[in-house]
Amino acid sequence: MTADPSTRVLPLSPELQRYVLDHLNPPVDAVVTGLARATAERFGDLAGMNIGADQGALLRFLVQISGARSVAEVGTFTGMSALWLARGLPAGGRLTCFELRPEPIELARVAWSAAGVADRIEVIIGPALDGIAAMPDDWRIDLGFVDADKGGYLGYVDALLPRLTPTGFLLLDNTLWSGRVIDPHDTEPDTEAIRQLNAALAARGDVDVVPLTVGDGLTVVRPRTPIED
Ligand SMILES: C[S@@+](CC[C@H](N)C(=O)[O-])C[C@H]1O[C@@H](n2cnc3c(N)ncnc32)[C@H](O)[C@@H]1O
Repeated sequence: MTADPSTRVLPLSPELQRYVLDHLNPPVDAVVTGLARATAERFGDLAGMNIGADQGALLRFLVQISGARSVAEVGTFTGMSALWLARGLPAGGRLTCFELRPEPIELARVAWSAAGVADRIEVIIGPALDGIAAMPDDWRIDLGFVDADKGGYLGYVDALLPRLTPTGFLLLDNTLWSGRVIDPHDTEPDTEAIRQLNAALAARGDVDVVPLTVGDGLTVVRPRTPIED
């Protein structure tokens, strides 16, 4: 790397984040704000696990422009990211959600129904690795979004990569972990897990990897295809 990376860093203040949200088009609607409010009322600080609307709008956009018809999500909680993903699907598209706990899904279903996307979402309750392994051999996805236990990410990547269609890709959430990945004093298990994930992905020869500074860090992964002459 030759250029000074600090010259290209955008200081993202809360005001600038607000400005971004205020300039989304289409704007954030009442289903999203209602789900955020209901999640905070029922789950308190855990509501911070919901993705933000800027990231959600990007997820919807990526589903749309990639033409994805089959999408998987690992880690659904109260269904915020699933809501955005499902809104990007065409009629007849499917979103398969793998979530450990049934309770948060109750709120998710209310929002999905209000948005008119409930019929395209299936939820499989239990450990996601078991759920993915139990899918039919011919189950394929165009896009996989991973946002669950941080120590499990590499396992989810390896379970989902063989399920991708030829142009399919994965999106891994929280890969910058509030910037804690570069704090040498932070040796929390989740921080270490994300560091190991990022290092392992950067060292692999079978995937292309682009860490994006969206939300809490969103890494795009896809199988590397040989360049043909
Ligand atoms: C960060 S939250 C997901 C937030 C959600 N994507 C959203 O935007 O609203 C992580 C979720 O992963 C789930 N989870 C943790 N370990 C899991 C596992 N082994 N299998 C499936 N889900 C898991 C948790 O129960 C939790 O609901």
